[in-house]
Amino acid sequence: MTAPQDPDRVLIFDTTLRDGEQSPGISLNTTEKLEIAHQLARLGVDVIEAGFPIASPGDFEAVQAIAREVEGPIIAGLARANPADVDRAWEAVRDAERPRIHTFVSTSDIHIVHQLQATREDVKGLARASVAQAKEYCEDVEFSPMDATRADLDFTAEVLQIAIDEGATTINIPDTVGYAMPQEYAEFLTTLYERVPELRDVVLSVHCHDDLGLAVANSFAGVLAGARQVECAINGIGERAGNASLEEFVMLLHTRAADVGLTTGVNTREIARASRLVSRLTGYAVQPNKAIVGRNAFAHESGIHQDGVLKERTTYEIMDATTVGLDANQLVLGKHSGRHALRAALEELGYQVDGQTLNTAFKRFKEIADKKKQVTALDLEALVTDELREEVAAYTMEWFEVEASSRRPPHATVGVRTPDGEVVQGAFTGDGPIDAIFRAINAATGLDARLRDFRVDAVTGGQDALGEVSVVVELGPNAGERIGLPGVLLRERATGAGQAVTTDIIEAAGIAYARALTNAVRRMQAQAADEASEPTAELATP
Ligand code: KIV
Ligand code: ZN
Repeated sequence: MTAPQDPDRVLIFDTTLRDGEQSPGISLNTTEKLEIAHQLARLGVDVIEAGFPIASPGDFEAVQAIAREVEGPIIAGLARANPADVDRAWEAVRDAERPRIHTFVSTSDIHIVHQLQATREDVKGLARASVAQAKEYCEDVEFSPMDATRADLDFTAEVLQIAIDEGATTINIPDTVGYAMPQEYAEFLTTLYERVPELRDVVLSVHCHDDLGLAVANSFAGVLAGARQVECAINGIGERAGNASLEEFVMLLHTRAADVGLTTGVNTREIARASRLVSRLTGYAVQPNKAIVGRNAFAHESGIHQDGVLKERTTYEIMDATTVGLDANQLVLGKHSGRHALRAALEELGYQVDGQTLNTAFKRFKEIADKKKQVTALDLEALVTDELREEVAAYTMEWFEVEASSRRPPHATVGVRTPDGEVVQGAFTGDGPIDAIFRAINAATGLDARLRDFRVDAVTGGQDALGEVSVVVELGPNAGERIGLPGVLLRERATGAGQAVTTDIIEAAGIAYARALTNAVRRMQAQAADEASEPTAELATP
């Protein structure tokens, strides 16, 4: 597929699973990525950038699974401008209904000189060869000149001309470091159209980072200048300050449709659910005042505002909360609800569960319904998402005991199943019950992990609400030795995030901590494997 038929239709290219997944501490497994990809398909995005297949075997497996299973959107795989990357990206996406290879190389001198340690001529050659190679495999090829907004415009135009001549069908202009200003970015695109008239025959795309808080504004300026694809991520996650937030951009076009006249194919009623799913699986909380999906985005605190909204909603609201799916939480089950009711409720939420999965979900539902009077749609969603995290070959907390008192320091003992299946025990006396349980898990596993982030949220309101705990850990210097990788020096810190949902937050904290350890160890193993393959300068990650 190339340009959309309707000139006013803006394609939404979601990069939650690629640029978003590059955010520090995020490490999603294949099941979690698939779950997000299915939700993105329900949301109606046009393109899912499913990952960076050459980055690790795990990335490859996830992109391939998404390409094979998720119907509707184009499935794209990212590739640096070198033959091995393009081959690997094609291998991963080739089974998709509509595959795309997205290849890139930097055009800014800062990157060419310092990172690639190459010349402009080299870059032209890399762009030519990678697009030509991708085109042999796949009709749909996207090319990005990385760091374009800090690059020489004429040189970038030359590279784009080469990419188009070789058959690129989408040209994406990244503001890689979030440096551009809206007016300047629009002028950059307008001048590129003048220098390379063939840009009008392909889809022009924008990819903006949020370092100055301008990612959505720059993307909007880009579409006003003629771009018809916007690369964005749910909740705006991504490298550093993140990418343009999908929900903000989509709701901007939706809310101001009469003035802007541009549309997307997004079903806005799926936005809230997509946001919750991504937040829960990545462990990245959504700030309460975040536009569109923040807890307070539709809340009115001042008396004057409340009074106005009660009389007429539009006095203080420019959007209706139902438009973004914030009303889809009415469904309620209780402890007398049976298996059929649970399955019907889960189906209404978009989850198909049968057989053993339904049995497990029902067992957990009953446990929760015993403790909680009403189990709401939000509870069920949290429960099902939590089930997705159950994995083999992971650290899992099997049992725990915590003694907490104001008279003596809290003491915790835990049993942890290691990835080898062995159950090991550890004990610790900490500053608080949660600190004690975390350190007891360290003692049991022998990993000297440090806590980097810890958050507890209630899934719904009320005293009996389910507690959702998110943890980020960083592995200490002894980790390599403990996991059979002695002497490994890593480029990045080995961090990992984990989440868990139960009615007992101490238990949830322990489960989440063990999951975070698993993810950090996997990240360390992947990095070690990556470094063992001795990457060259032009193979540095995007
Ligand atoms: O920010 C960037 O330049 C990227 C490219 C790989 C498109 O993410
Ligand atoms: Zn990016």
